[in-house]
Order: sequence, then structure tokens, then C-alpha cells
Amino acid sequence: MVKKEEIGELFYRNGLIPVIKIDSADTADGLATALRRGGLSVAEITFRTKAAPKVIERFASCYEDILIGAGTVTKKDEVDAAISAGAQFIVSPGFNPSICEYCLGKDVPIFPGVNNPSLIEQAMAMGLNILKFFPAEVSGGAKALNAFRSVYQQVSFIPTGGIQENNINEYLSLKNVLACGGSWIVSADLLEAGKFDEIERLVKSARRAMIGFLPIVQEGIDEENQSRSMRDGGCIEVKTPSIKRTLAMLSYFKAYVIPGSEIENKQGLLEVSVGIPGLHAQIHLVE
Ligand code: 3PG
Repeated sequence: MVKKEEIGELFYRNGLIPVIKIDSADTADGLATALRRGGLSVAEITFRTKAAPKVIERFASCYEDILIGAGTVTKKDEVDAAISAGAQFIVSPGFNPSICEYCLGKDVPIFPGVNNPSLIEQAMAMGLNILKFFPAEVSGGAKALNAFRSVYQQVSFIPTGGIQENNINEYLSLKNVLACGGSWIVSADLLEAGKFDEIERLVKSARRAMIGFLPIVQEGIDEENQSRSMRDGGCIEVKTPSIKRTLAMLSYFKAYVIPGSEIENKQGLLEVSVGIPGLHAQIHLVE
């Protein structure tokens, strides 16, 4: 269970909060596995479907390593349902003082949506300093957030709305952005079709886009308490235009190919893992 004061840090570390509309709790397990494998440890389940409380309950009881929150919360009974299902934070599309007060009274973190200075100041007056910026793209995007930065230095934002892999870094490069919210990696269609591999691929692709390479921790699931445990080492996945040239350059570090890790076609190597003496993680090269 993540401590309340650590939620902002966890948002920052993830960089991306998937905003999820899920129609049936039957797909919750597949979703959780795809998020884990992709490397995300946070999810926002929106109250746009009746299944939301059940899905939150499933995550809270079986996947403790994923910080689970409720999104699109606009009514007090939804706050109640979210909290009793085990949600650890609440997100609302707009700034509704009575919803914010209700959450604060229950000591549950609330991240209301704002998109102008007046709303930011009203939220600040309630002691809130992490705010959703919604709808981000049509409210001035990264330029607007940059303008807020000098005036509201103590506020951090979670821009959401119109953000995808191709523009996420415009936001993440701003000092007052903790993480971006987005629905593109977990679309309702992918969930309904059970395309969890595709969800995992989209998560990995987004994480790679955020920092230029992909850190992959080799983890196992401890079946008994469903927590993740670290296996030895991990790997850093790097996409390169030429595996051959990269191997040549890495020979300086006495890099060696991990036997059996090569994936190739007629044109040559497509993927390979290399070890470097003294380096705990392997490097997985993808061409
Ligand atoms: C939200 O509820 O936060 C938004 O609908 C998500 O916006 P997106 O679908 O443009 O990512």
C-alpha cells in the first residue's frame, strides 16, 4: 500500500497514468498482467461503466503492487463506492468544491481537473497542490502549463486529454508536470477483444518514448501473496538502427552475446541480448 504522501512520487516515476474505461471485471486480471509486464504500477479506473467498483476491488485485493485510483468521479456516492472498493486516489474531470471537500474530509487524495488560473487558485485555497489539467490539448496544451509555472510554483499537474505517445514529451519535459494521463494504451476495444498483448506493447512503447530506451525488470509473481519479486538483474532494451555496429562499439566494454538470445531472419539479427562484465543488467538490442 502506497503512503498518501508518496503518491505524487509514484505518478512521477510512472510518467503515465492509464485512464481506463472497462466494461467487465472479467478482463481485470488480463489488464493487470499487461500493465505489470509493460512496467506500469498505476491505473485509473473511470466511473464511466458500472463495472468500475468491481474492477477496483479486484485490483486492490489481488494486485497490491499497482496503485489503483478512481477516475471520472463526479458524485459523492461514486466517491463512497470507489473508497469502499479500495481506490487509493480520486480523479475528477472538473473542479467541484463539494466533491473535493468530501474527499478531503475522508482523507482520500483528490486530483480535480482544472484548466484556468481561477480554478487553480480555488483548488490551491483548499490545500490541493497536485491537479489534473483537463482537457489538456484543447486548453492550451504544454504552452498553457508552461505559463502557469512561474505563477503557481507549488502546483504540479497531470495533463490529460488528447495526449498520446507522439506528444507526451512536450508535457513531461515541463518541470510542473508529474505525469500525463491518457486512454490510448488501454482502449475499451482492446479490452473487449482481450488483446492484452497489444496493451502490453503499447505500454512498453510509451515508456520507451518517454526516456529513449526501455528498462525491463525481470520479475516473478509471488503466487501466494500476488506481489512482485525481483529476479536476478534485469535488462535495458535499446532500439538501434544497427545491432552489428552497436556490438562493434560495445566490444570496447568486452560485451558478449548471451548464448541463445539471438533472434534473426534472412537479413540478419533482429534482437540480441548482451552482457557486459561488471554490469548487473543485460542490454537487449532491438533493430
Ligand atoms: C479523461 O477522462 O481523463 C480523458 O477522457 C482522457 O483523455 P484521452 O482519452 O484524450 O486520453
